[in-house]
Amino acid sequence: MPTEFISVTFANQNTELHPLPGAPVDPEFLVKYARALDDNDFNYTLIPYGSASFDPFTLGATVAAVTKKIKIIIALRPNTMYPTVAAKQLATLDQLSSGRVVVHFIAGGDDTEQAREGDFLSKDERYARQEEYIKILRQAWKSSDPINWEGKYYTFKDFRNNVRPVNGTIPVSVGGSSPEAYRIGGALADIFGLWGEPLKETKEQIDRIYAAADAAGRAPNDRPKIWVTSRPIVAETEELAWKKAHNILDLLKKNRAGPAIYPTSDKAPQNVGSQRLLDIAKKGEVQDRALWYPTVTATGARGASTALVGSPQTVIDSILDYVELGCELISIRGYDNYHDALDYGRYIIPGVRQALKEKGLNGTETNGETNGHDLNGDRPAKRARALRD
Ligand SMILES: Cc1cc2nc3c(=O)[nH]c(=O)nc-3n(C[C@H](O)[C@H](O)[C@H](O)COP(=O)(O)O)c2cc1C
Repeated sequence: MPTEFISVTFANQNTELHPLPGAPVDPEFLVKYARALDDNDFNYTLIPYGSASFDPFTLGATVAAVTKKIKIIIALRPNTMYPTVAAKQLATLDQLSSGRVVVHFIAGGDDTEQAREGDFLSKDERYARQEEYIKILRQAWKSSDPINWEGKYYTFKDFRNNVRPVNGTIPVSVGGSSPEAYRIGGALADIFGLWGEPLKETKEQIDRIYAAADAAGRAPNDRPKIWVTSRPIVAETEELAWKKAHNILDLLKKNRAGPAIYPTSDKAPQNVGSQRLLDIAKKGEVQDRALWYPTVTATGARGASTALVGSPQTVIDSILDYVELGCELISIRGYDNYHDALDYGRYIIPGVRQALKEKGLNGTETNGETNGHDLNGDRPAKRARALRD
């Protein structure tokens, strides 16, 4: 089972610690950051979506142009784009990047945020629309015949797509923690994205996703790969790491204006993923080896916000716990985006891969040097899915 690493793309030097509200794209920074991820053997970078933030497709095209190996995960809210347009845009970017595109679906976790771009469906309806959307994309990518679609949310006639993904299809990721997320992601996704929860709660979520996959008739080797996200705070020693963590917490509290990705409010979050993080935070500040929750409460759990605090070895061991649980995609992004990516590339990613190698697990997979098991490779499960689709 390969273990792969995910980061997040940032278009400028804005961070949660040193916010630059309204800062424009900084092309020099974007290129430097993207190349740093590629050079430091991250396998993927997520380009997030927010109603007030940059367009992931244009950022993704830039990242693709200046990198060689890293895969580009485009976050997509179905309400923002007609599915036939999305199918072609994703496939165009996939061709431009020689098959390096993944799409991450966001049903939308907050009614107010969705309304900002004209979406007034309930969350359950948004998930139902997402289900239909994914099915349309898959068909548009594979079908050479004209498509006539009559669904609940979309109707179109005689759609012909000449823009094919390089590897026949594009991996589909789904994120969320509500029953509808499990059902749709379990049935349809290649990847299922989770925020970092303690091992027990993560296992519960994985079981529910797998149960949904089984209920949809997927074979055990065709279940979604699990992606888990945390924010490591690493320093040379445990003591220095905790000192750094408390400095970060002070800044987060000071800048309660919040992360730039999502417009913030002081209301309780409507998305289940954030509600879960806030509930778990009540159980204690540190859970498992080093999963730290004050960063969750300080930011109202808007987005991925659990930290992993400690020396490189502690963080490596914590990540290995998730790998042993069955998580194949490990998203690590810090609070000092660029420098943390360099630190992870130097101390964390090689450490995890080395440890997996020593355990006889497939931890040697570096970016671009896969053993044929990655999502665009000739994985048996993928072959099965290609036949089923
Ligand atoms: C790994 C991951 C990445 C996410 N990226 C985004 C994003 O870029 N933009 C966004 O609005 N929501 C993002 N989300 C949030 C969820 O997709 C969203 O809240 C979900 O549609 C509803 O969540 P729920 O099912 O937990 O209620 C992400 C979630 C996960 C797990």
